[in-house]
Amino acid sequence: MPCFNPELFKGFSKLTAPQRFSRLKEMGALSQSDVDFLVTGGIDDLSLGEKLIENVIGYFQLPLGVAAYFNIDGKDYAIPMAVEETSIIAALSKTAKWIQTNGSIKTHIEGNTCIGQLQIHTPSDIMRLSTLLNEHKADLINRCNTHVTNGLCKRGGGLQDIRLREVEGMAVIHIYVDCVDAMGANIINQALEFLKTPIEELCLETVDICILSNLNDSKLTVANVNLKLDDDDLGKRIEKASRFAELDPYRAATHNKGVMNGIDPILIATGNDWRAVEAGVHAYACRDGQYRAITTWRYNKDTKQLTGQFKAPITVGTVGGVTKLHPTAKLCLNMLGTTHADELSRVIAAVGLVQNLAALKALTTEGIIKGHMKLHIDNLVLGTDATPEESVSLKQLLEKVLAKTKRISQTHAHELLQQLRKPHTANA
Ligand code: HMG
Repeated sequence: MPCFNPELFKGFSKLTAPQRFSRLKEMGALSQSDVDFLVTGGIDDLSLGEKLIENVIGYFQLPLGVAAYFNIDGKDYAIPMAVEETSIIAALSKTAKWIQTNGSIKTHIEGNTCIGQLQIHTPSDIMRLSTLLNEHKADLINRCNTHVTNGLCKRGGGLQDIRLREVEGMAVIHIYVDCVDAMGANIINQALEFLKTPIEELCLETVDICILSNLNDSKLTVANVNLKLDDDDLGKRIEKASRFAELDPYRAATHNKGVMNGIDPILIATGNDWRAVEAGVHAYACRDGQYRAITTWRYNKDTKQLTGQFKAPITVGTVGGVTKLHPTAKLCLNMLGTTHADELSRVIAAVGLVQNLAALKALTTEGIIKGHMKLHIDNLVLGTDATPEESVSLKQLLEKVLAKTKRISQTHAHELLQQLRKPHTANA
């Protein structure tokens, strides 16, 4: 996607769908054929599904939205989000707009390899194994890069290292592969299964299982938010909320769920494996033995700077898997304007961190109910059998109850609908 004028996001949330399409076309985020594809409902036959999974009976559709106002490392993005939960996209857009005016989002990646594991459950001699692996490491790497990971080597990646770990008497051999723009699961598993036989023959040991690891701590994605804040009280409250989640696993789980609210929708929209990223992020969150917040926030009242950081493995691809096979995933990757997995990973980390700031700001000020339920009212109305005419009045009544009691539920929606219908019943 070419650079676009960020002003095009002004008032985006108030536009109708056709107006949103026009703006996104003006930005270069969507083409007319993308729009045609989206308005006609996306994929319309089962043949793709039949190729992707088994026992296919249809597609499960999620709403696809756009998070606005994101400027990451100086580049403007229209962020595609496939998600069912109300208020995530609104909160992201509002917070990204706040940062755009008062701060910055900067990202980088530490390390470049993904990990695969070979387990030798009962090694006969772990010292000999270690010596042999070290002596023959270059040859093993060379053979794998010639026969299996040669495509990655051509793109500047490939198998880079082999190391041995001892885990409670087991020998665990790690391979470290630079997968360039692929997520790497398939190629790492192929490299592991290729290496199994030469390692067994060389070391006279039995390899039990070969599989990639989703805890890729040899490639971590870092996002930093810096925000000028003229409100010491708010800054301190956000820091206190962060410390709560850094120390208490009960709070950390919810805090991190909020971060994943930002991350999972982009993974889904771009056809990436969200279970793998979830597993990696949560495993990294308890790397010191206790489950902790995956982000941290600090406020410096002298400089009036609020700073936040996300750091975890976000292993994604822009090639391979279904990224190029699923037409909606392809469209979403085009919308992001990147063909590089590292850039996608950095964008995802940034969105997770911004979502976290949105939630912490709400939690430390007005509470989560006000904003979330204001937008959730439509779902409550939808959960009744109200007619389109009744829905308008029901929504207004629910808004009044929410403003008065700060509490609202599906039961309220059903009860208020019954009240609305009473005069008609009486007349009948
Ligand atoms: P508001 O102040 O009423 O918003 O906030 P506004 O009407 O002033 O609009 C400001 C901007 O917000 C708009 O700019 C939009 O970008 C966006 P504009 O387009 O006008 O230039 N916006 C919207 N975008 C699309 N559709 C909308 C919409 N409304 C505003 N309808 C808001 C309302 C919900 C944003 C605010 O109350 C908020 O941020 N609340 C937080 C909600 C949240 O974080 N939800 C995420 C899910 S909850 C979660 O993360 C789990 C949790 O447990 C995690 C944890 O514990 O840490 C909480």
